[in-house]
Formats: sequence, structure tokens, C-alpha cells
Amino acid sequence: MALRVLAPLLALLALLAWGATVLVNTTTRAWFERDVSLRARLVASGARDALVSRALRGDRHRLAPILQDIERDDRVLAAAACSEGMTTLARTRALPPRFACEPLAGRALAAGGDLDLSEQDGGALLHVAVVPLEHEGRTAAHLIVVHDLSFVARREGAMRRFTLGVFAVVALLASAATILVRRFTWRRWTEEIRRVLGRGRGSLLGAGSPRAFAPLVSDLRAMIAELAAEQGAALAGQWTPERLHRVLTDSLDGDSVVIVANREPYIHDRGADGAVRIRHPASGLVTALEPVMRACSGVWIAHGSGSADRDVVDRRDRVRVPPGEESYAIRRVWLSEEEERGYYYGFANEGLWPLCHLVYTRPVFRADDFRHYETVNRRFAEAVCAEVAGPDPVILVQDYHFALAPRMIRDRLPRATVIGFWHIPWPNAERLGVCPWKRELLEGMLGASIVGFHTREHCNNFLDAVDRFLEARLDRERTSVVVGGRECLVRPYPISIEWPDRWAAAAPPVEECRRAVRAELGLAPDALLGVGVDRLDYTKGIEDRLLAVERLLERFPAHRGKFTFVQLAAPSRSLIPEYRDLGVRAEALAARINARFGGPGWTPVVLRASHHEPPEVFRHLRAADVCYVSSLHDGMNLVAKEFVAARDDERGVLVLSRFTGAARELGEALLVNPYDVEEASLALAAALSMPATEQAARMRALRAQVAEFNVYRWAGRMLTDAARLRRHERLSARLQSGPRPLDETPGSGGLVAR
Ligand code: G6P
Repeated sequence: MALRVLAPLLALLALLAWGATVLVNTTTRAWFERDVSLRARLVASGARDALVSRALRGDRHRLAPILQDIERDDRVLAAAACSEGMTTLARTRALPPRFACEPLAGRALAAGGDLDLSEQDGGALLHVAVVPLEHEGRTAAHLIVVHDLSFVARREGAMRRFTLGVFAVVALLASAATILVRRFTWRRWTEEIRRVLGRGRGSLLGAGSPRAFAPLVSDLRAMIAELAAEQGAALAGQWTPERLHRVLTDSLDGDSVVIVANREPYIHDRGADGAVRIRHPASGLVTALEPVMRACSGVWIAHGSGSADRDVVDRRDRVRVPPGEESYAIRRVWLSEEEERGYYYGFANEGLWPLCHLVYTRPVFRADDFRHYETVNRRFAEAVCAEVAGPDPVILVQDYHFALAPRMIRDRLPRATVIGFWHIPWPNAERLGVCPWKRELLEGMLGASIVGFHTREHCNNFLDAVDRFLEARLDRERTSVVVGGRECLVRPYPISIEWPDRWAAAAPPVEECRRAVRAELGLAPDALLGVGVDRLDYTKGIEDRLLAVERLLERFPAHRGKFTFVQLAAPSRSLIPEYRDLGVRAEALAARINARFGGPGWTPVVLRASHHEPPEVFRHLRAADVCYVSSLHDGMNLVAKEFVAARDDERGVLVLSRFTGAARELGEALLVNPYDVEEASLALAAALSMPATEQAARMRALRAQVAEFNVYRWAGRMLTDAARLRRHERLSARLQSGPRPLDETPGSGGLVAR
């Protein structure tokens, strides 16, 4: 009987598995083909001017270096330049003979000169694009770009194996279920389940049941409710503030959170006229966390750094924000000048910041600074304990300013859910080794329930460091560390921005921004505009960015007089010599480029070294033809995502450093190595000549990505993992301590252990 039922079921499952593999493989292959076709056209538009001028002059020798440049891209196998009539002008050595100009001539000319093919060649799947290069309205030459698509075949293989694996598991489960169905009848099953979960006679929660099992049942119920909520939410799609708040209330029984972060989201400053004004600081952390706080409500504990901060707080050093909305409170912690120097400028920004960023700036470690760092961490941990309402609050400890705080909080609130998030890269164990207080940092952070980083690589670096410097048990499977009998999860959670973005939504229409910004800069209405937005920080590659602009003007004289790059640079940490020096060097570089290329009525580089409020930033992002984010190393970089949010007109090109966390998600940007000024200037040229249809295609894909992976999802995933961990811990605590008296708390929706 079991076989009679099983055979058709297994056949059906096999058919479904096969169908799913075929569907997924066809779609991904089409997607990759479209992507490499776009890339080939991008390469062609970047190299068009140089190729055409050399092709027209018949300068074959000088065509070869351009083709070799193109071939340097990881996935490009070969390239060739052909004449208008498809005879070979130059080619790279790896070009398969059947994809040279002459053999492709017939097909290319029949297709109007513009051709895409995917074909097998000696066991490898290759994509060939023939792109016509226009000059004065006619085709002057062709570029052939051959991409290696073998990685698609590898992914298809992996997908096939995965689907077959899933099929095998489902088949196994189906067989087990069939055998069980045969053993018990359905009726007996449902009776059994009702008896176990129900509240009726004979149930575990009923009068005569062993009450010690009740928590297990309520945990089971909570888990089912959570799964249902997650599933419902998944169907509903987008992560929203409401959905995030639901996770907090339903899965963590919380109605607010406590955030610990050095920088406050609203700074009260007194102006020269005596009036108090609010400043929004330039900080990726604040950009991300502020919407989360508005969604969750609670208290944000931060250093009170504004000149009028003390004047607006209540007796408990609190002020409600955002102005007019008042959905949460900032609790300000006051630091003496000496403390700020040691903890913030010293250990955090002269020690940890350069230690964690691979930018070749030497970290400085002073024992005095670390002493202040410890004291300030303790002060913030005490503030947390004063702010929380119960024994198991949800506390989000943010960034490298507070590596020690999680343990200090844990010591005082053992049942708290503490989520630590490190917003900058985490160095490998060898680099971390130079820090005299590495053990203290690791132990401090492991006081958290979860330690989050933007990327898996940084999680691995952290786990390696724990392995090398501490006595702790590592669980590589769960990516967690067990210390003192407690588990701390170490997971990647790539941070993001709110979506829809409130500043983008409030900004004037794009056309108005374009007009206004060009007018303010004294540019012609059709001038091309590049924009950079950063703190004046040596990790942001601002000098490399300006050098790329200079190289662009050198290599592509057509852009002289037409292209201006405006850099908004917020002064930052200016007590530190490296930051002050950077400001001086950037000004000098901008002046040199302007003296070299600029002239009456045109300034190639505009460097605005001052604070800009978000509406001003968004006006520039909406006015730009290209935004260049050139960080030399960056945990995530949210300016890249803000540019995407700003462009609801689906125009504008993002040129993005490969060394940002954002580059892992924003694949449709033009990814560059900012140290390679040749590559970066070529990408800027490609961006400036990119057809509107390609800009729209790329921007649409980028916007879909940021919309789906918004900051509510970032926070929601951490809270969901924290809820699971909390349930698991409670369950094991109960199982270890055996049956305990229970108390039915009215309105709590269940039974709680005392
Ligand atoms: C980075 C850090 C943040 C910091 C921001 C601004 O994004 O990860 O923690 O707030 O820089 O720096 P500042 O020192 O001005 O707060």
C-alpha cells in the first residue's frame, strides 16, 4: 500500500524538481547573457573615442594596448577591433579564430553591425558581442568583446545539485510520512495533536497534566506564530516600519529598544545669532539607525556634542525627537574634554579606525586613551541600565566606540538581548594582533547575544581572531562562539537605508534640482555634473577621486569645458592631524587641477569643505549625471544607496569602489578600483556617455535591490535571530533546571516561569 501511494508521489516530485531546474537555469542564463551584453556595450562606449580615432588613422599598433586594457576585466576572454567592413585591425591573442572579424562579418553585417551570440567553444560557453562604433553618424569601426560564461554553467551545475538534494530530502520525508500515515490513521493523528496542544481534557495544559511541560508548549506556539507572521510578511513582500515593529512586539515581547551609539541623530547647536538650530550629522550610522528608531521607539543614548545640547534636555538629560514627531528620546551622556580626547579622538579614531580600515594609515595606541575608552564605555553601560524598563530589554550597541559595553551590560542585565553591530570592516587576526587590548575588545563584544558585521568576510575575520586570541568554543556551522556557557552568534547583516527615503521623497523634482545646482555653480544648463559626498576622511579616497577627474580631462579632451565635479566634504574629526592634513591636500589638489584645466567660465573641480544638511545633499545627488564613491575601504557606504534612492527618474550613473560593502550588492554600478586612476577615469568617461536606456536599466535594477534590502529588513533580520536565540536560551535553561512552579499571568498570553 505504501509503495502504491509513494510511486506516483515520487514521480510527481521528480517532475517538479526537473521543471524547477530548467526554469531557474533558463532565467539565470538569460539574465547573465543580458548582463555581459550590457557590459560589452559599456566597455565599447568607454573606449569608443580612442578606438575610432586610431582606427580611422589606421594606427593598428596603438589599438592593441586598448584591447589589452579591455581584456584585463576578469570575465573578458578576448577582444578585437574591426574595420567598418569587418576586417581585422587588431586583436588580442586569446581570441578564438571563429570569433575574429572576418568569420563574423556575414552575421554581424546582416544584423546591422550589432550582434550578440552565445556559443560553446572547446567545452567553454562564450558570449560574443559585436558592437558598432559610431563616428559622425556612421559606423566607423566595430569592437568584438568575448566574455567567458563558463561560470554560468558552473552555477547551473550547483543549482541542479541543490534541486536534486532538495528533491531527495522531500522524497525521504514523503516516504516517512506515508509510512506513519499507514501506522496511525489520520483521525488518530489529529486526536493525538489536539490532546497534546489543546486545552481540553487530557491536554498538557489541562488540569491533570504535568505543568512543567507548559513552557515547551508555549514556546512551540510562539514559534508557530512567528513562522506564520514571517510567512505572512514574506507574502506581503516589503519590509516596512510596521513590520519591523511587529517583530519587536510579537517575537521579543518588547515595545521599544535602547540604542547605544556615540553620534546622536539630532544635534542642537547655538548659532552666532543666539538661536538654537538642529543639525543632522554626516554619519552613515545615523542615516541607517534613525529610521529604525522611529519605527521601534525607545531611547537613543549618545554623546551630547552640540553647543546647545544641554539647554534643551530635561532633568534626566533627555530630549524627545524628531522635532514635531517626538516618537523617541535621545538620552545625552556628557563627556569632559579629556574623556572625549582619549575615548573618541584617541582610542576610537586614532587607534581602532585606522586598525580596521586597510588604507595604510598607522594606528596609534596609548594606554591613557584606552583607560578613557573603558571609562566611557562603563558610563554608557550604566546609562543603559538606568533607561531599561525590565530584566530582558532589547539593546542595540553600535560600532567601534563601544566594543567593551556589551559585556558590561551583560554583567548587570544577564537576561538582556544585546545586539552589537560593527559598522566598519573587521581586520584579519594578524592585523588585529598589533592592538595591545585585542583580548579586552573581543571579550567585551562577546558579551552580546549577536555580533553583526556587514559581510561574511568580516565575520570570518572576527571568528579567526577569537580562535587565535581567546579560550572559547567556536561553532563554525552556526557561526557562533560559546563563552562562559553562553552562545554569541556572529552573523553578516548588510546595512541599508530607509525605503522610501524621506529626504528623496521631500526633494524638489529632478529637473528643478538640475537647473538650480547648475545655476549655483555658474554652469551651462547642459553641463555634465559629477558629484561626491563624504566626510573629509582619508578612507574615502577623495584625493584618488580628484585624480581620476584630472585623468578624465587629460584622456578625453572633449569633456574639458563641459564637465564639472562637485565634492561635498563635511569636515570631520579635525583635531586629528591626518584629517587636517587631508583637508589641506584636497584643497591644493583641487586648485592644481583647476589651474591646469580651468578657464574663464569653467571650473573643473568644486570642493565644498563644509557641513551640508540632507536636503542640500539630495539636491546634488538628483542633479548629477554621475556619482563617484571612491572609498579605499568602507564597511558599507550608504551614500551609494542614497544616490540610488535619490534617482526616481532612473537616470544618473553610480561609479562605485569595489572596496565598499555596497559593491557586493550594487552590481549594476560601474565597479572600479579607486587606486587605479586609469580604470576610474575610463569608468567616469563611460558613465558620461552612457545612453539613457542603459542608465535606466541599471538604475531600475539598483533601485529594486535597495528597496528590497532596506534598513527595516536589516534590523528585522537581527531581531528575528535574536528572538530565536532568546527562545532557545530560555528553553535550555528550563530543561537544565527541571520542572519549576509556574504562574499564569493574565493578559500575558501564556505561562511564565518564576
Ligand atoms: C562612520 C562610523 C560612525 C560615525 C560616522 C561619522 O560611519 O561608522 O560610527 O558616526 O563615521 O563619524 P563621526 O566621528 O563624526 O561620528
